[in-house]
Amino acid sequence: MQDFATYPSLRGRTVMMTGGASGIGAEIVSGFAAQGARVGFLDLDAEGAQAMSEAHEGVTHEVCDLRDIDALKAGLAALRARIGPADVLVNNAARDDRHDWREVTADYWDDRMNTNLRHMFFAIQSVAPDMAAKGGGSIINMGSNSWWEAGGGFPAYATAKAAVHGLTRTMARDLGRDRIRVNTVVPGWIMTERQKELWATPEALQAQAARQCLPDLIDPVYVARMVLFLASDDAAMCSANNYMVEAGSI
Ligand SMILES: NC(=O)c1ccc[n+]([C@@H]2O[C@H](COP(=O)([O-])OP(=O)(O)OC[C@H]3O[C@@H](n4cnc5c(N)ncnc54)[C@H](O)[C@@H]3O)[C@@H](O)[C@H]2O)c1
Repeated sequence: MQDFATYPSLRGRTVMMTGGASGIGAEIVSGFAAQGARVGFLDLDAEGAQAMSEAHEGVTHEVCDLRDIDALKAGLAALRARIGPADVLVNNAARDDRHDWREVTADYWDDRMNTNLRHMFFAIQSVAPDMAAKGGGSIINMGSNSWWEAGGGFPAYATAKAAVHGLTRTMARDLGRDRIRVNTVVPGWIMTERQKELWATPEALQAQAARQCLPDLIDPVYVARMVLFLASDDAAMCSANNYMVEAGSI
């Protein structure tokens, strides 16, 4: 077990999140809870979400499909009523479903944008006024190095993930005057249950090891640790930037 940092500034903070029921998001929820923060998250997976809330002190959730923006807004409002206005927003939820570029329809394209990108903007729009009223906040958008590595097989996902960087940069400018920081955390290949079940063949793992400078597979906890740092006051002068957690994946 690693001995990780404690951030006194996170104690008692209110964290809103998307996609906290599994994978990297679940690790982020656990990380914030361990720091003494209050966490409210939105997720489609009712069972996984319930298990996370039951397992952690100070964690609550609402079940919602983030593709439905009215449901997203209602979910955030319900969480706000329970745990107060947000200090931190982590836009984490996404789905890296594979698709053949020849078979993508306009409806599928739109669905991927709604799954991987659109809700991030509307979550920011929902919480930023509260953060401004509190004198500042931290917003963390989850990117991916897949598009940067020119990874193929999921053009709509990769395009949405590339756009996350643009969203971060432009919102960092608009919200910076209210001392709201906006950053992108950029994971490499992270060994979540979904990745292990669906894509982690021996050949794929070997190819990944060859791409990384560091030889070890990346556990989700390392992405969570970067998120905690960016949410904390230790990162008070960090905004509009990318923070890679990819073991030097070239
Ligand atoms: N795992 C990796 O290797 C990797 C690499 C690069 C980037 N990322 C990014 O990290 C973030 C987390 O990914 P993960 O690997 O932990 O994924 P995951 O599939 O394990 O977890 C995603 C969570 O989001 C929820 N979710 C998905 N679509 C939703 C919707 N429409 N409404 C509500 N909830 C929804 C899921 O139920 C799930 O709990 C994503 O933004 C992903 O793009 C992951």
